[in-house]
Amino acid sequence: MELTQRQQQLIARLKGRDEIKILFVCLGNICRSPAAEGVMRAIVEEHGAGSRFVLDSAGTGGWHVGQLPDKRMRVHAQRRGLTLEHRCRQVSESDFDEFDLIIGMDRQNIEDLRALAPTPDSTDKIVPMAAFVDMAMRYDYIPDPYYEGAEGFELVLDLLADGCERLYEALA
Ligand code: 4NP
Repeated sequence: MELTQRQQQLIARLKGRDEIKILFVCLGNICRSPAAEGVMRAIVEEHGAGSRFVLDSAGTGGWHVGQLPDKRMRVHAQRRGLTLEHRCRQVSESDFDEFDLIIGMDRQNIEDLRALAPTPDSTDKIVPMAAFVDMAMRYDYIPDPYYEGAEGFELVLDLLADGCERLYEALA
């Protein structure tokens, strides 16, 4: 999955800025997007760039609002040294004003975000996480692990580790 020219231009404009606000979005906001937020936070902190990045996550659905991430995702993330403490919230129209980039995990997330985006400029902020993933076995989306076993959660964390590193490099 590739970035459009407009998305590449937006990322080039953001690169090196003092403050970059990123919202990660999935369906439930209890598995993939809070994990992406945690993985990205660890990467920016490791590079001493924690103060430049405002990171958050949200879901297109509202079933789990107020909850911590799924226990399975918390356990798998903790094994990699990541503590996930995000409280689930639903994405809203005002997020398109607040954030510079809104990163969706799969095609349905992207479609739902496009339907919610209030203006053409805000639509340009919606980019697929998979555009930054370059693992040997290629995925064009981050697969939903909710109905999967342990390997589904590990795969998500592997894809996010790879994608967030590249996302950071694109913005550093
Ligand atoms: P996520 O996974 O989108 O990665 O947070 C899901 C979590 C919950 C549900 C679906 C997906 N759900 O249907 O409740």
